[in-house]
Amino acid sequence: MGTFIVSGCGGIQSTLDPGGREAKSIADLFWWMTAGAIVIWLAVILLTVYAARLRSEARNQRRDRILIIGGGAVIPTVVLTVLLVYGLAPIPTLLAPAPEGSLKIIVSGEQWWWRVRYFPRGGEAFELANEIRLPVGEPVQFQLDSPDVIHSFWIPSLAGKMDMIPGRVTYLALQPTNIGTYRGACAEYCGTSHALMNFYVEVMRKEDFSAWLAQQSQVSQPPVEPSAARGQELFLANGCNACHTVRGIPARGVIGPDLTHVGSRMSLAAGTMPNEPDAFQRWIAHTTEVKPAVNMPPFHMLPPEDLRALAAYLEGLK
Ligand code: CUA
Repeated sequence: MGTFIVSGCGGIQSTLDPGGREAKSIADLFWWMTAGAIVIWLAVILLTVYAARLRSEARNQRRDRILIIGGGAVIPTVVLTVLLVYGLAPIPTLLAPAPEGSLKIIVSGEQWWWRVRYFPRGGEAFELANEIRLPVGEPVQFQLDSPDVIHSFWIPSLAGKMDMIPGRVTYLALQPTNIGTYRGACAEYCGTSHALMNFYVEVMRKEDFSAWLAQQSQVSQPPVEPSAARGQELFLANGCNACHTVRGIPARGVIGPDLTHVGSRMSLAAGTMPNEPDAFQRWIAHTTEVKPAVNMPPFHMLPPEDLRALAAYLEGLK
């Protein structure tokens, strides 16, 4: 029974299975609060049963008064004060910025995806979407904003939530402690496809992270396969470049996600679909079915062979 109850507490998107310092302190707080609540609940139930079974002639006014003042006022005041202080104590640490010189990542919440910007030291800034990679054990400073409506940035396994508010900049610092893949979500209702606005976070060894950073900052490789080469032509001919950037070809649109290395990402359409050629075709042809009210129009007028070529090109952008 116990196993059944807590089996929902693990996994890549659980506050109770922390993979970072901040999430750990929140999980600890939760468990202590829960334990305290259980102890108090049991004590109240026991006292209720005791009082109900007590014969009235056994009552003693003085003892009753002690029980009422002690159990009704003194104990709750002491317990609630302790829990309040304990509950508020982690907040300054949770809101503190990462040390000067830490890795900085800017994330914008947009309807309904995440624009992610990295600024490698000595390298050029680059952008990707719906995916964040972090080196294990290093503090990271997120700078959060939104160009449209309020979103909320949340990686349950790594830290608490932080709102992304149009016209304002908010900050969240965290330090991942465990290597692994985690899932993040938008935690503030932001319109029709709010529930289809997710992302993956990969916490990696430092060397792997540096290699990934170097690879992501490169421009895209020219397609080799004939069908992928045809896909690149179609990408430009159909105006995909009006909204999307692919570094290395004349595609510098900034409305939608940067697709320079889209083939290497862990999902499509902000955590909605697997990153596979079939899913890519379905996404391009039926965007509004996959993600209702999305800005990208569906390209269902394209013949199947064109969709296949586009998918081959985009999947090849590793
Ligand atoms: Cu963005 Cu909900």
